[in-house]
Parts: sequence; structure tokens; C-alpha cells
Amino acid sequence: MSSSSPPAFLQPALANLKHSPPPDRPHVTLTFAQSLDAKIAGQHGKQLILSGKESMVMTHWLRTMHDGIIVGIGTALNDDPQLNTRHLPPRLDSQPHSLPRPIILDPRLRLSPECKLLKNFQAKTGRRPWVLSATPTDDDRPDWQQRYDALSQAGASIVQLELSSNILPVPVVLEKLRRLGINSLMVEGGARIIDSFLNACSFIDTLLVTVAPTLVGSHGVAYGTNIPTGISHLRHFDTQAVGNDAVIILKSEKS
Ligand SMILES: NC(=O)c1ccc[n+]([C@@H]2O[C@H](COP(=O)([O-])OP(=O)(O)OC[C@H]3O[C@@H](n4cnc5c(N)ncnc54)[C@H](OP(=O)(O)O)[C@@H]3O)[C@@H](O)[C@H]2O)c1
Repeated sequence: MSSSSPPAFLQPALANLKHSPPPDRPHVTLTFAQSLDAKIAGQHGKQLILSGKESMVMTHWLRTMHDGIIVGIGTALNDDPQLNTRHLPPRLDSQPHSLPRPIILDPRLRLSPECKLLKNFQAKTGRRPWVLSATPTDDDRPDWQQRYDALSQAGASIVQLELSSNILPVPVVLEKLRRLGINSLMVEGGARIIDSFLNACSFIDTLLVTVAPTLVGSHGVAYGTNIPTGISHLRHFDTQAVGNDAVIILKSEKS
């Protein structure tokens, strides 16, 4: 794998990104790392570094290829991710790598104003995070404005969807992001977000899963426990060995 450019196999796998997305949504790449026994985290959600160094670098290259990157608030609170490209070598032309817009699905504004995404934005090493929220319910209302102000002051751009639901429906999120100029979207997890996207699988163009040669055990966090059978439009496209991991790519036959 060349260290100064993305792994060659990513180009054909993501050839759809060169074309305009559908009018009502971005191109969607769902990607995550799992153990051999299909777990994405340890007991009680403990963050596990499942990917080896090489596949971690591949994921950071993937980030450079997308306009936006989504995680759910469960992941934002649990892992405090940075969603940047810090594992990549400097570009040959000394320009910075393209960073995707961090987007957090956070219907109830639970994100911490102290999170790394906001710290990085304040330090000018990260892009301004977008927080997609819902309309506050009566339960949320008492300190909603306080949380809204704290996040805004820390630098978050809060995009309030006209819904009072704790689950932001995938088609609504995608349509909103497309209208906000996101043409390509990487979805990184966690478990509930993966399940929601697999449940709305007609919106997925590319599914890229890194399978690490390790077993987590039954206490780990699983995904896909509630997805419909017969997701037939996602077909095998490529399998690559990346370091000790297997990277398995499925593509929509429509894209
Ligand atoms: N291995 C990997 O590649 C990987 C990647 C990322 C994360 N993870 C792991 O995943 C775990 C976190 O997963 P999680 O399931 O707890 O949290 P999550 O999927 O990150 O976030 C779920 C939360 O997002 C909000 N949400 C808004 N719209 C949603 C929608 N359409 N579908 C689902 N949720 C929606 C809800 O917030 P409210 O609760 O406020 O309503 C929901 O509880 C952590 O253990 C983390 O380490 C692993």
C-alpha cells in the first residue's frame, strides 16, 4: 500500500463519488470495523481498537474522500472521536488533507461542549461540527436552551429538524444534508446508527466492513440484530487483505 495516496482498491470501490448523487440524498458509504464474531465494541460499549494500523490508515483515506462523516451521539459520548485524518502522512504538495464535516446525530443535544470535535474546531485543527437535533419534547425542555447555548458557544452548528422523535429518520437526515451541500457521506457508527442505515439499506451505495482477526465474545456490542432479511441490492464487490484485516466491500447494484 502506497503511503502517500489512498489504497488503489478504494478508487473503483468508490467510483460513484465522481458522479452527482441522487437529488434527495448524498452518496452513502457505511463503514465500520468488527471482530470475527461481529462485535463492534467490548462489554458495556468499551471502545476497542479492532482495526490494525494499516486498515486504520485506510479508514482515514476514506475520510478524505467524503464531504461529511456521521456518528451517533452514543459514539460521540462513549468514544469522544476526532473523525480526522491524523494517521495519514503529509501530502506531497504540503497541502492539508481534505477533512470531512463531522456530523453528530444528537436529537436531544447530549453532546458535551468539551468534546474533542469542538476542541479541535476551536484549535483550528478540525472543521466546525454539525449537530443534528430534533424539536425538544417536554422532557427535554427545562435546560434545552442552556445546552443549545453551551454547544453553540463552543462552536457547534446546530441543525434542528422539525421532528419530535429520538430517532432521526435516515431519509430525513439524508435529504437535509444534501440540501446543506453534503454530496458524499461516510457513516461510521455506532451500533444503533449502523442498524438504522441497514434498515434503510436502499440508501446505502457502499458497505465497507473491516473484519479484524479477533474474537470479542458474547459480552461485546453487536450490530445487525434487527435488520430485514434479503438485503439483495448490496452485492459483493471486493475483498482485500489490509495488514492482518480483511476489508470486505459490497456495492449497491444501483450505484
Ligand atoms: N467498531 C466500529 O467501527 C465502531 C464505530 C463507531 C462506534 N462504535 C461503538 O459503538 C458504540 C456506540 O453505539 P450506540 O448504539 O450506543 O450509539 P450510536 O449508534 O453511536 O448512537 C445512537 C444514538 O443516536 C441517536 N440517533 C438519532 N437518530 C438515530 C437513528 N436514526 N438511528 C439510531 N440512533 C439515532 C439516538 O440518540 P438518543 O439516545 O439521544 O435518542 C441514539 O441513541 C460504542 O461502544 C462505540 O465504541 C464502534
